[in-house]
Amino acid sequence: MNIAIDLGSDRTRVFIENKGKVLDEASVITYDIDTNEIYAVGDEAYAMIGKTPLGIRAAHPMDSGVIAQSDLVEEMVDIMMRELCPVKISNPRVITAIPCALTEVEKRAVVNAVSSFGARKVYLIETPKAAALGCGADITSPHGVFIADIGAGTADIAVLSLGGISAGKCVRRAGSAMDEEIVKYIRKQYNLVIGTNMAESCKRTVGCVAKPQEVQTFRVKGRDAVSGLPRYADVTNEELEPVLAEIAGDIVTAIRDVLEQTPPELISDIYSDGIILTGGLAKLQGFAKLVSQSTKLRVRVHKYAPDCVIMGCGKAIGLMDTVGKDLPQGISPLLTAY
Ligand SMILES: Nc1ncnc2c1ncn2[C@@H]1O[C@H](COP(=O)(O)OP(=O)(O)OP(=O)(O)O)[C@@H](O)[C@H]1O
Ligand SMILES: [Mg+2]
Repeated sequence: MNIAIDLGSDRTRVFIENKGKVLDEASVITYDIDTNEIYAVGDEAYAMIGKTPLGIRAAHPMDSGVIAQSDLVEEMVDIMMRELCPVKISNPRVITAIPCALTEVEKRAVVNAVSSFGARKVYLIETPKAAALGCGADITSPHGVFIADIGAGTADIAVLSLGGISAGKCVRRAGSAMDEEIVKYIRKQYNLVIGTNMAESCKRTVGCVAKPQEVQTFRVKGRDAVSGLPRYADVTNEELEPVLAEIAGDIVTAIRDVLEQTPPELISDIYSDGIILTGGLAKLQGFAKLVSQSTKLRVRVHKYAPDCVIMGCGKAIGLMDTVGKDLPQGISPLLTAY
């Protein structure tokens, strides 16, 4: 059986050949700090963040697109896969997406994590290539495709042509860093201490990075920093714009840098086709507008933006058997086997 896994900083998604996407859960694991006993993984563990008793931690073991705690990631993947496939799968082959800028050591950690449930062979594909395949783009043709996958931990930006990356950049601060900025802002502005899950809900509902057309509010609930008592504050999209501006600005600058590095013939393709945004953060209010204003290009957020990478990994399952074989001249291989 062939399986695709997208181990995201925020969400883990799994695709099984001939079945499609079968899992989409938070990349979170709850465990006992002393005994390492695991209490929950996925969405159940996410709901425990900031609510665990002393001695128990609910953690994101992936951080900024890389494996921060390898033993926890391996446990998390193993539990998720055993829940998905209670009968042991014999010798599965696994394909997984990785951010462009990973070192060999970081790649090896990903390979170990996704092989934890007994994979026979692991194939890696760079995130922008998977995202583009998931969008249905033909990335082996000589026509340039500009794609930016913006998630929780990374913004992976690339111009693809002939199966390879002609220009690219990876920013390791995205949606999760915005949540932290919201936590800091609410504390400073309202003297209110809130958790990151509350901040994430706030960002998803009223977070915005371009001047909004109408004012929207979101009620954040937390603990008064002085009295320690429960309190709330009503936060508007207008006031969040400057809070999120720096991180959004860094991503937009990286997009512009990639455009600057792109060879002129490919730029003309991008000028006609524009930029495709994928990943969960692409859905943030005003993001596409900000990128479009800054690049003067047409910007499209894919309808299923958060799922493009896993769907692309799923499509790439069909390419596993071509690895190591001769490709038409000039075309770079999309997958690397480990
Ligand atoms: N509608 C939305 N508006 C704003 N932000 C959103 C929305 N939907 C999801 N997000 C944010 O997108 C991020 C998750 O995106 P995604 O699932 O692509 O990340 P990931 O693949 O887990 O992370 P990465 O690829 O960076 O390792 C989170 O920060 C989440 O809060
Ligand atoms: Mg991702």
